[in-house]
Amino acid sequence: MSMATSTLPGTAHSAVLGVYRPAAPLFVAGAGRRLIDSEGNSYLDFASGIGVNALGYGDAGLSDAFRSALERGLVHTSNLYRTAPAEALARELADRSFADRVFFCNSGAEANEAAFKFARRWAGAAGGSQKHEIVALRGAFHGRLFGALAATDRPAMQQPFEPLMPGVRFVAVDDVPALDAAVSPATTAAIIAEPVQGEGGIKPLTPGFARALRAAADAANALLIFDEVQCGLGRTGALFAYQHLGVEPDLLTLAKPLAGGLPMGATLLTERVASAVQPGDHATTFGGGPLVASVALEVVQRIGAPAFLAAVRARGAQLGNRLAALRQQAGVVTEVRGLGLMWGIQLNVPAAPVVAAALAAGLLVTSAGERVVRLLPPLTITADEVDEGCDVLQGVLA
Ligand SMILES: Cc1ncc(COP(=O)(O)O)c(C=O)c1O
Repeated sequence: MSMATSTLPGTAHSAVLGVYRPAAPLFVAGAGRRLIDSEGNSYLDFASGIGVNALGYGDAGLSDAFRSALERGLVHTSNLYRTAPAEALARELADRSFADRVFFCNSGAEANEAAFKFARRWAGAAGGSQKHEIVALRGAFHGRLFGALAATDRPAMQQPFEPLMPGVRFVAVDDVPALDAAVSPATTAAIIAEPVQGEGGIKPLTPGFARALRAAADAANALLIFDEVQCGLGRTGALFAYQHLGVEPDLLTLAKPLAGGLPMGATLLTERVASAVQPGDHATTFGGGPLVASVALEVVQRIGAPAFLAAVRARGAQLGNRLAALRQQAGVVTEVRGLGLMWGIQLNVPAAPVVAAALAAGLLVTSAGERVVRLLPPLTITADEVDEGCDVLQGVLA
C-alpha cells in the first residue's frame, strides 16, 4: 500500500468536518465492481459511491478519456471561453433527450437550483412576479443547498437552517386533487419530481401520476422539472428515467454518474425555457470545464449505447427476480421496489444494522431512509456478481 494507513487519524481526530459518519474501511483501490481496503479486503460494490460510479472502477475507456484530456493540457478555461468538450457534451445530451440546451454546474443540488432559477426567470417573463412557487412531492430529495433543501421533504434537515427559499408547496405522490389544489396559474413557476424517488426509498412514479404532473403544469402555464440526479443516465435501463413514463419535462437535472466520478451537474432545458434566460442570469466558475466534460462525453456515449442499456435491463431483471425471491424467504422484508439497477428493499426493522452486516460480509450497500436498503450497483455489473451480492444479502437478511 502506498499510503501509511497506520498514521491516519481516527475520525475523532480527523481535520475533516464531522458532517459525515464514514464506515470503518479505508479504501485504497478499485477494480471492476470491487473496492479494496488498506487491509487488502475486497468488497463487492452495490452502492457505486451513491449512484456515481456507473462504469465501476478502473474502466479503460474512462481512463483513456481522462488521459487524453490531460494530454491536451486543458483542465479549465472558465465560461468566458468556449471549449470543444463542453460543446460536444451539450450537443450529445440534447440530441439524446427532449432538450435543446444544457447548463453545466458541479453537483445535483446546483443543477436543481439552476432549474429553479430558470423556471422563475421564465415564469417572471411570462406571468408576473407572484409566479415564483415550486410544487414538490412528499418524500422528495433534491439536495442540501438553500433552494434545493427547501424542496426536499426532510423537516429535520431543514429546520436548523431556516429560513430557506420561500414558496415551496408539497403534495403527496398520487394525490391528484392535492396537486391540482397546490398548482395555480397565478403562483406556480414549476413542479419538480424525481421519476424514481431515490433517497425517499426507491419509489418509481406511475405513468398516470407523471401524466397528472404534466397536465397540472400545462393547465397552470407552469414548467415540469424532472430531477434525474439519481435515476438518470441508464440507472433504470433507459438513458433517462422519464422515457419509461411517456411524459417529457421542460427541464431535467443530472449529476451523480455524469462525469465518471468527477463533480459535474447539468440542467437540460427546452428552447421555450432557454429563450427566457439571458446572459448573466446564472453562472458558475467551474461548470462544464474541458476535463470533466471530456470524461462525461465518454460516460454518456457508453451508457447511451443500446447494447449497454439492454444489459442494464437484463441485469436489472435478474436482480429484481432474486429480490422477489428474497422477499418470500426473509420475514423482515415487506416489499421490494425498483427498476433497472435501482432497487429498494423495504424492511420492517431498521436498515442500518443490515447495511453494517453486509459491509462485514464484503458487500457495500446503502440505506435510503430508516427502513430501506438501497441497491445501486455499477451498471457494468455481471450476472455472477448480481448473484454473489444477492447471496450475501440473503445470508444477512436470514
Ligand atoms: C434525486 C437527487 N437530487 C439531488 C441530489 C443532490 O445531489 P448532490 O449531492 O450532488 O448535491 C441527490 C443526492 O442524493 C439526489 O438523489
